[in-house]
Amino acid sequence: MAIETSCDETAVAIVENGRKVLANVIASQIDLHAKTGGVVPEVAAREHVLKMLPVLEEALETSSCNWDDIDAIAATKGPGLISSLIIGTETANVISCVKNKPLIPVQHISGHIYSNWLDVEEEVQFPILILTVSGGHNELYLMRSHFDFEVLGETLDDAAGEAFDKVARILGLGYPGGPAISKIALEGDSKKFNFPKAWLEKGSLDFSFSGLKTSVLNLVKKDDFNTADVAASFQEAVVEVLSEKLLMAYKQYPEVKEVHLAGGVSANKRLREVITEKFGKFAPAVKFRHPKSMSYCTDNAAMIAAAAYFKWMKEKGGFSVSNIVPIASFDILC
Ligand code: KG4
Ligand code: ZN
Repeated sequence: MAIETSCDETAVAIVENGRKVLANVIASQIDLHAKTGGVVPEVAAREHVLKMLPVLEEALETSSCNWDDIDAIAATKGPGLISSLIIGTETANVISCVKNKPLIPVQHISGHIYSNWLDVEEEVQFPILILTVSGGHNELYLMRSHFDFEVLGETLDDAAGEAFDKVARILGLGYPGGPAISKIALEGDSKKFNFPKAWLEKGSLDFSFSGLKTSVLNLVKKDDFNTADVAASFQEAVVEVLSEKLLMAYKQYPEVKEVHLAGGVSANKRLREVITEKFGKFAPAVKFRHPKSMSYCTDNAAMIAAAAYFKWMKEKGGFSVSNIVPIASFDILC
């Protein structure tokens, strides 16, 4: 069982052997935060308190599991909003003590990475090149084995999802920005505006999206524009940089067997399409994966359970009550 409360989703999942999803319950706070155009941490935390136990009960009910079926309890330890994280980690601490289950703290981004193991039956092949694109993070990793991640590149300013959210706000498209932009972009001309693409120095696998966002802001201030065209051109600029840097990384590490896309922005259909096209052309032998369900792209607890399973198997080899992590070691700030 895993709990995820790092931002504005109260989520509990039950996953068998890190892959088979028995329950994946998500109480989204989107409607609540749409009123303020973004997440207010105190409001999010209060909502987590209200939703935590009903979501937990629903997960047990949906999976038809009882507490004896649960081998261990995992929770997101960070990064995220501290007041939101505390609700999930404290719930996990209590379950661990009262029900005598091993406690597994999971780093949120490693959770996103393991979303590509959910509902996958065949063996995933290492080494893997991973592009994580979310509201709070944007990195390129080389993963040589379970829980062995090398950072190849990261954002120097905004994450891709953050850029989607900020541009959506500029265009008056509401929150969250990613789905709103990708929807209206379908009606726009992606070649209408040639927005800047930050390639940075030659060969760099880092990202930067703040210049692109400023460029949209400047255009909107002075010109008469069509929102769909701006959205489509902006999306195309983000997709071009993300997919091209992924291909550049592959050229630097041609031993890679699989390429994975993870995080909220992995729900973006245009991004999936362009990566599929580019790798189909330049590296057809490489397997491209994105999360099998849209609900595994944005924050969810199934991915936390998957990461917890592989972390625990690597570190301890199996689940047993003697492996319970003492509460003091569950420090969400580390
Ligand atoms: O992974 P996630 O749920 O939360 C973080 O860990 O940050 O990602 C949320 C981000 C938001 O910025 C949202 O705008 C973006 O994912 N997103 C999308 C799409 N769906 C969600 N961005 C682009 N296209 C989408 N279809
Ligand atoms: Zn996330």
